[in-house]
Amino acid sequence: MAIQWFPGHMHLTRKAIEERIKGIDVVIEMLDARLPGSSANPMLATLVAGKPALKVLSKQDMADPDRTTAWLAHYNDMPGVRAIAIDASTPAPAKMIIEACQQLAPNRGGVDKPMRVLICGIPNVGKSTLINSLKGKRAVKTGDEAGVTKQEQRVTLAPDFYLYDTPGVLWPRIIVAESGYNLAASGAIGVAAFDDETVALELINYLMAHYPTALQARYKIDDLSGETDETVLDAIARYRGAIQSGGRLNLTKAAEIVIYDFRSLALGRISLETPEQFQTWLAAGVQLDAERALKKAATKQAKKQARKAKHQSD
Ligand code: G4P
Repeated sequence: MAIQWFPGHMHLTRKAIEERIKGIDVVIEMLDARLPGSSANPMLATLVAGKPALKVLSKQDMADPDRTTAWLAHYNDMPGVRAIAIDASTPAPAKMIIEACQQLAPNRGGVDKPMRVLICGIPNVGKSTLINSLKGKRAVKTGDEAGVTKQEQRVTLAPDFYLYDTPGVLWPRIIVAESGYNLAASGAIGVAAFDDETVALELINYLMAHYPTALQARYKIDDLSGETDETVLDAIARYRGAIQSGGRLNLTKAAEIVIYDFRSLALGRISLETPEQFQTWLAAGVQLDAERALKKAATKQAKKQARKAKHQSD
């Protein structure tokens, strides 16, 4: 089951970005360091095309440090792009951001030509937390429900450096199934939008392949060979006493436990994708999407011809 998620207010956000982007020198896209590819916004890429981009990998304290290094190198290799990794405890995020933006747009600066920066990010990526820390006070509401940031605001980071925050978020379409699961596991997708068990099974699958020792240590599983995501979820339910009346395993509860353990770092610092993995998923997703579009166009054409033939025979 692929996860589709498109809250209505995203249309408004899109318009707001379109209007704001004209006077912007650098676009900051906040990405979750645990899932940078999946937490990127595909629509943003078209909206901000051509603008220098700073990728801020947030929550690095939760991500696998080696993978964060790989993602930073991946972005820093791109023309017109710089990347930094931060977390809520980073001592001087403003300094890091200002320096990176100056590298990206060296012709801006001074009160006559202030640097104008737009910050964007999907829900829960840590945007409000960063902005609060930049402002030095708790002025932006943070929360665990998707899309808390509602109104545009401007933060003056230096006399010649303005940071504009976009209201809301954008997510037009998740064409990569893995991205949907990773976003759900991270908490970026609202609680109503996904099925815990499916997400937990995908998460277990990934952990079995890439972080087996974390999984084994947390749930005291001696050997993963011969296990599947489903048998591991069963084992977690038994180990954590998630049993319903009648002795049946409570797999919903077990799924919640795995997701909670991932989000709370009980499984350790884990990243759900590498640049290479994400590229592979994206290529497959794009191809599938193109095939779907072709099929849809062919069906539409066939219906049109059938209507025409019927009209002629009448
Ligand atoms: P948003 O504006 O992008 O929607 O995200 P927000 O700042 O509200 O952050 C979403 C959640 O992520 C918050 O947790 C926040 O504390 C947490 N968070 C933000 N930055 C970091 C970070 O660098 N490291 C870690 N580990 N967590 C971070 P919450 O539980 O939803 O709310 P709260 O009670 O902690 O405020």
